[in-house]
Amino acid sequence: MADQKATNVHWHEGDITRAHRAKLLGHKGATLWFTGLSGSGKSTVAVELEGTLQEMGALSYRLDGDNVRMGINKNLGFSAEDRTENIRRIGEVAKLFVDSGVIALSSFISPYRADRDQVRALHDAAGMEFIEIFVDCSLEAAESRDPKGLYKKARAGEIKNFTGIDDPYEAPREPEIHLHTDQQSLEDEVNAILDVLRERGIIGE
Ligand code: ADX
Repeated sequence: MADQKATNVHWHEGDITRAHRAKLLGHKGATLWFTGLSGSGKSTVAVELEGTLQEMGALSYRLDGDNVRMGINKNLGFSAEDRTENIRRIGEVAKLFVDSGVIALSSFISPYRADRDQVRALHDAAGMEFIEIFVDCSLEAAESRDPKGLYKKARAGEIKNFTGIDDPYEAPREPEIHLHTDQQSLEDEVNAILDVLRERGIIGE
């Protein structure tokens, strides 16, 4: 993980706390970290959940691999080092969202366990909710969906270091939520997540 480079910097505390913001919004902030293969359904579930939360009056915001890689992380590629930095930055951004009271829906392949655990540790240290959601799907199913045609390119050798083909994916060992998108309905998946949000008191009943 990145070292602190700037010296003589001090955290500046304001008057309005996380608790004030939670009261204003009527729910707590949290990071929901969707991890899984490309094409596993991370963004699909996050989009559906975002819509449901909106209807319930809860504020969420999606942080999505492809989108973020066109902006704040446009200088990063897919080497192990760049993927680690991608996840580190998003972990910090998600934390800011949680602090602001928002439910951050973070969808990144995030193939390395150590990188995800690091983001979890950052949240734990700040007393913030981090819910890891394993968007599990067989490689066969993800590859047959191939929504962006990338598996085809990777098989043809036109994309190198493609997760699941010639780059690793380390599945979570103890995710808070384990979805099987090649077996479950989208509605069931969203309900499973909402149940955990209620159990943890992030949203009301
Ligand atoms: S991560 O590994 O660093 O977490 P991230 O989720 O941001 O990846 O980006 C993955 C998206 O980038 C994929 O859904 C796919 O559209 C695209 N992509 C392009 N090249 C690759 C690659 N070599 N491996 C995985 N995804 C890739």
